[in-house]
Amino acid sequence: MKTAACIDDLRAIAQRRVPRAFYDYAASGSYSEQTLRANRADLEAIILKQRVLVDVSARDLSTTVLGKKLAAPLILAPVGLLGMQHGDGEILAARAANEAGIPYTLSTMSIGSIEHVAEATGKPFWFQLYVIRDRNFSKQLMDRALKAQVDTLVLTVDLQVLGQRHRDVHNGLTVPPEFRIKNVIDIATKPAWIWSVLKAKSWTFGNISGHVPGMENVNSLSKWTQDQFDPALNWKDVEWIKKYWPGKLIIKGILDVDDAKMAVELGADGIVVSNHGGRQLDGTSSSIRMLPRVVAAVGQQTEILFDGGIRTGADIERALALGAKACMIGRAYAWGLGAGGQQGVAKAIDILKKELSVTMALTGVAKVSEIDGHVIEGGTAQTKA
Ligand SMILES: Cc1cc2nc3c(=O)[nH]c(=O)nc-3n(C[C@H](O)[C@H](O)[C@H](O)COP(=O)(O)O)c2cc1C
Repeated sequence: MKTAACIDDLRAIAQRRVPRAFYDYAASGSYSEQTLRANRADLEAIILKQRVLVDVSARDLSTTVLGKKLAAPLILAPVGLLGMQHGDGEILAARAANEAGIPYTLSTMSIGSIEHVAEATGKPFWFQLYVIRDRNFSKQLMDRALKAQVDTLVLTVDLQVLGQRHRDVHNGLTVPPEFRIKNVIDIATKPAWIWSVLKAKSWTFGNISGHVPGMENVNSLSKWTQDQFDPALNWKDVEWIKKYWPGKLIIKGILDVDDAKMAVELGADGIVVSNHGGRQLDGTSSSIRMLPRVVAAVGQQTEILFDGGIRTGADIERALALGAKACMIGRAYAWGLGAGGQQGVAKAIDILKKELSVTMALTGVAKVSEIDGHVIEGGTAQTKA
């Protein structure tokens, strides 16, 4: 891992170290993966402007999100089953984020539970909520999160039904993996992974197992989603969550201007412009394509975060130029984790920070707050709301 120079190097190492079913689960998009590809292609199509002879000797990557200072405009996104990329993955990622001075978001569908992460880190983190049919369970999750010092709730609204990822079907994805011949042969060649998982605190969905009657032995993400996620989820649910949750509320999975306006009307402290990393509605727009429209509509009223396809520091600058306050990353750090545990996550964060710093220098900006439309072709200083 020492020689890993970029996020794609971490991806390649993770591919060698993580059992195929879990590597594929992270890398995949839904259906024909059009949106997954568009997330990358549309970011790369944004041309940065080279500027010279600007004093950029003192560069500052820090920023403020929801009133808190971040060492970089970067947040670890909620990633389900993280503890299957590496044993205790959630705890390790949270520790790496704490050390880097950026937030970590724990998924409802994590392997390590809210309590495990709280106990192991002793620091506040963000918690991502999926609302299931049993609203009482959602309340319990919020209560547990509050008790664990969670200060920010990220309500994900783009997964009330699951977009199919074909490779999960082919691989028969379950947690923990089922002992089918194909899996056993594959896993047997990944000794470091086996060891990390054997030592881990949890091997199943830590937030759910033992908390939801009838779901003690839940091991299939797709079955769980089908049975428990509520397709009737609507804005009224957002209203009661806003009333119930005393901390900051971020709504994640907004890709439409009207939805963004509604989220702001209902009092969201922030929104994440996101298509779930191309894992849900295939054929929809890339997140970066929608970002400027959402910023133009509600950028003055709420804080706008962005995710989808961030693999380089240049990508972060592109999103900031179009008005994002900070970027969430999903696969970039999940691959770091698979490649090398906590150190791998730290490496992913470090790679992105260094790349952002160099990109800032070569586009003639010294501070994150100076990044706006003037750093990209076709943009103006006003591009940022
Ligand atoms: C393996 C994987 C699992 C994910 N699980 C969740 C989840 O449990 N909750 C959620 O809100 N988003 C989830 N997401 C979406 C991410 O939070 C984020 O929106 C996405 O990864 C951003 O795209 P990127 O991976 O290209 O950075 C997941 C993404 C991946 C790749």
